[in-house]
Amino acid sequence: MNIIIVDNYEEMSKKAASIIMSCVVLKPNSVLGLATGSTPLGMYKELVKAYKRGDVDFSNVLSFNLDEYYGINKDNSQSYNYYMNENFFKHINIKKENTFIPSSKIEDLDQACKYYDQIINKHGGIDIQVLGIGQNGHIGFNEPDSKFVGETHLVNLKEDTINANARFFSSVDEVPKKAISMGIKSIMKAKKIVLLASGESKAHAIYSAVKGDITPEVPASILQLHPDVTVILDREAAMMLSK
Ligand code: GLP
Repeated sequence: MNIIIVDNYEEMSKKAASIIMSCVVLKPNSVLGLATGSTPLGMYKELVKAYKRGDVDFSNVLSFNLDEYYGINKDNSQSYNYYMNENFFKHINIKKENTFIPSSKIEDLDQACKYYDQIINKHGGIDIQVLGIGQNGHIGFNEPDSKFVGETHLVNLKEDTINANARFFSSVDEVPKKAISMGIKSIMKAKKIVLLASGESKAHAIYSAVKGDITPEVPASILQLHPDVTVILDREAAMMLSK
């Protein structure tokens, strides 16, 4: 693992954006694996700025998002569809039909999960996957479990994840209890992975992911087995690594 420690959130965001940009510049039809949450927001802002400066062109890029809440309408302001449009897609020249997000619909769940993995494979797999990390070590919505789940699947969210994500909703009761997530196999098949974390609340998860045992109880720990992972941390998120 290549671990980069920077001073603050802004530096982390700039570094992450520069890695994504170089990928797209070198391969204009890159397949990007994208994440939501508060962590990558600064990276998206930097990428939008770079696009507006004319430094990067997304017209041939494809994107696959990691996850989506289950049973939520696409237009709901809490959906990850809405998040991606508002924070990234509508500001750049990516083609709408080239952006993929797991289906949030209740019907045809098995089919929709299978289709998601098939379509990633059909496009040659993900060139670079951006990841945040949950305080419990989750990646995407792959929650701590007794085994790793490989494919795109329905997840029952853990109580600590529901509580952590409640900050985006007006009450904890509104947080969906289920989500569709790309599985560990789909994430590990990405050619390159960039894991981002900022703030003290992520320090323990980062320590366990980077230095702990590889276990499904800390889903991010599987990344130790990937040949090309860059971890970009601000000082707070990295604070336990020197111990
Ligand atoms: C969410 C998302 C993850 C994200 C994580 C951390 O539940 N499913 O993809 O990485 O939690 O979120 P944040 O960046 O807001 O701390």
